[in-house]
Amino acid sequence: MRQDTGQIFKIEDYQPSDYLIPETKLTFELQPEATIVTAQLQFERRKGVEAGTPLVLDGDELSLVRLELDGRPVDASGYQASPQQLILTAPPASARFTLTVVTQLDPSRNSTLMGLYRSNGVYCTQCEPEGFRRITYFYDRPDVLSVYTVRIEADRATAPTLLSNGNPVEQGDLGSGRHYAVWHDPFPKPSYLFAVVAGDFDVLEDSFITASGRKVELGIYVEHGKKARAAYAMDALKRSMVWDEEVFGLEYDLDVFNIVAVSDFNMGAMENKGLNVFNDKYILADEATATDADFANIEAIVAHEYFHNWTGNRITCRDWFQLCLKEGLTVFRDHEFSADQRSRPVKRIAEVRTLRAMQFPEDQGPLAHPVRPRRYREIANFYTATVYEKGSEVVRMIRTVLGAEAFARGLKLYIERHDGEAATIEDFIRAFEDASEQDLSQFALWYHQAGTPNLAVTATHNAADATFRVEIEQSVPPTPSESRKRLMHIPLAFGLVGEDGQDIVAAQIEGAQVENGVIHVRKRKHSVVFHGIPKRPALSLNRGFSAPMTLSMEQRPEDLVFLARNDSDLFARWQALNTLLTDATIRAYRAVSGQANVAHDPNLIATMGEMARDDSLEPAFRALALTLPSESDIAREIGANINPDAVFMAREGLAKAIACANADQFATLYGIHDAGEFRPDAASAGKRALRNVLLDYLSLSSDQPTYAAAQFASATNMTDKAAALTILAHRFPGHVEASAALARFEDTYTNDPLVMDKWFQIQASTPGANAVEVVRSLLDHPAFSIGNPNRVRALMGTFATLNQTGFHRDDGEGYRLFATTVLEVEKRNPQVAARLATALRSWRSLEPKRQEAARQVLVMISSREDLSSDLRDIVERILS
Ligand code: PHE
Ligand code: ZN
Repeated sequence: MRQDTGQIFKIEDYQPSDYLIPETKLTFELQPEATIVTAQLQFERRKGVEAGTPLVLDGDELSLVRLELDGRPVDASGYQASPQQLILTAPPASARFTLTVVTQLDPSRNSTLMGLYRSNGVYCTQCEPEGFRRITYFYDRPDVLSVYTVRIEADRATAPTLLSNGNPVEQGDLGSGRHYAVWHDPFPKPSYLFAVVAGDFDVLEDSFITASGRKVELGIYVEHGKKARAAYAMDALKRSMVWDEEVFGLEYDLDVFNIVAVSDFNMGAMENKGLNVFNDKYILADEATATDADFANIEAIVAHEYFHNWTGNRITCRDWFQLCLKEGLTVFRDHEFSADQRSRPVKRIAEVRTLRAMQFPEDQGPLAHPVRPRRYREIANFYTATVYEKGSEVVRMIRTVLGAEAFARGLKLYIERHDGEAATIEDFIRAFEDASEQDLSQFALWYHQAGTPNLAVTATHNAADATFRVEIEQSVPPTPSESRKRLMHIPLAFGLVGEDGQDIVAAQIEGAQVENGVIHVRKRKHSVVFHGIPKRPALSLNRGFSAPMTLSMEQRPEDLVFLARNDSDLFARWQALNTLLTDATIRAYRAVSGQANVAHDPNLIATMGEMARDDSLEPAFRALALTLPSESDIAREIGANINPDAVFMAREGLAKAIACANADQFATLYGIHDAGEFRPDAASAGKRALRNVLLDYLSLSSDQPTYAAAQFASATNMTDKAAALTILAHRFPGHVEASAALARFEDTYTNDPLVMDKWFQIQASTPGANAVEVVRSLLDHPAFSIGNPNRVRALMGTFATLNQTGFHRDDGEGYRLFATTVLEVEKRNPQVAARLATALRSWRSLEPKRQEAARQVLVMISSREDLSSDLRDIVERILS
């Protein structure tokens, strides 16, 4: 594996390459243990670069077989080759020359899943961000674009399907059981978008006619016998293609678009030009094996990768510091797509929940970094929630600030200007500035400054002069290596809600720029005065989550209940309720810690019942309203000295109070809300979601597994089945009904790894001290495999991120089991190990005993001498 060199990459060190590679011809002679790659690279000296300047190419664990320059062998004095570099010491003085590089690879032994690897009999590549250099020596950087022609040779029996980027050109037989295929991609691309796949698949075929009338052949390649499970992904793909034409005017540009689903994959999916490679978890689905959440993820990720064809591939990144240029924008696009295909407010709430769960802890802890970072040691560790999710929020804010029309013009200009180029965030912002004639320099701090901004707000009403005064003060907390922060431009959407639930329009507003329901906070303090407000309104802030920030505001509980019932913005209704529930839990937490009993506000408890039965609200929204903030949400609000056991008890207490007070009603509603025959659409999924939240409350109030056991037995789809099993396992651990259901599930799905992942997840997230032992024994389960990222994430990832009481067991055993596993994983796959290790990033917010136990395992890991650059980077930053 790649060892740490200690090298830090800095944005200001960017230099264009000395040479360009206009054309790349690759031949893969695929063999499981000895694959030969012949790369014919046409080089062109860049203008202004002195003739004879040494050519320095990247490699990673490479072994060079042969080197030729313009068809003649290069003698030993003409080059230096090591596993990580090839230097042609005195290249020809001519402007152009061709270098032929032959390397030999062992795809079977490549367990990193970067570069060319072979698993389950499938040859597959993963090149983003720096995997291409594991295939051949190259300028493995995103600003060197090349036109690729790829020839693949393999055994016909084991690899009848041979795929690469672009369009198919030719195929044929080679005798002795071998065959070949040639692919040509006319669009110049960086090496990270290169892909080859060879194996034996079933293919689901379809086609699409673009807006301008071109026919595109579509194919989804899956394991034999799983073709039917690709139907939903195909449907999502075609809807994505239509949507991108209709909403952004962007059409597909090749004759074929292929997707391959593989079972060993480090991430979710990869947007290789014309040949997306997916973790099969995000392709395969049917009602019997996938949950509604799986269907929604598949739709979003298929769309995401497809949308990259323009935002990422046609326009790519100058360097990896610009990662958010493609990722933030493409996440924004997939969010908009899902919002259009499903329910916009429900989608928005889900996005905010994810942002808070994944990005806020990153921004508020030792791994905080700007959306556009300026430094990195290991780029693979920067595929973060900050780059992706906060990056998407920043694009959304550009739209809020400029308005939908100017935003659309800006994006169009960006695409026209930079098509075929490798661009920067500065280019992106400039397009919006030019299209809108607005200055976005203060706004651009969202890209450059880490940390979650906070707005402290107080409001006073003066009946005598009918004014409502809102005092706003912004601050950005310090983050690693950025102690002083500059003032940001924060678009704060708001409403003044009158007694009748309608928004009040002020006669006049002073103190800030206020437009279309948005206060533009730009200074440290604003005193915004609304005139002509005779009665005190309820203040609704950050409607639709207009900015990724935190709010500190003393709000009267009765105002929050009022907003939860009446705000015209559904997100704000959910937020008001969520704030009340969080506050109630924190009050109970303080009491539980002090051994007192808490009574909850009957008004809040009643509002929950009201939400559950309000037929004017869509079921999916009601399900979200009834879902309590998670233990980590609550812990994050508490902030310091956290005792996860007390958080758990406080949350359980509130859940029980809600369940018991509304028991009859929830029972009736559970009976009514049957979604009927399975359909994967959002409305049907919403009904199931509501019903499953109700089932949880019913199980809590009755304290009996009967309801859940009955649903488990009768469920005809995985959503209802997994929900019932979760309730049985989590609420009734050790109960015979729970054990029987777990055994039954295991029995039914032993041969279906993706479904077994749910079985691992449910057990790994079962609260309580015993979880450590359960997880330890599951590591030995025959269905578990330490080399498969999905298995590792399902078991250890779930344990460390979703099991607050188990993972943070006060004797530190959870951390020790975790650390041992991380090191085991690292031997095979450093990237996956490093991602897993981020679960310890919030250790400093724990109470002292757990803090010390967590620190000890971090120190134990970091003191290992043979650590990979990936894991060392993460662990050292977490400890610093
Ligand atoms: N670029 C991929 C995406 O966002 C993610 C990815 C990164 C996949 C690195 C593999 C490796 O869609
Ligand atoms: Zn992406």
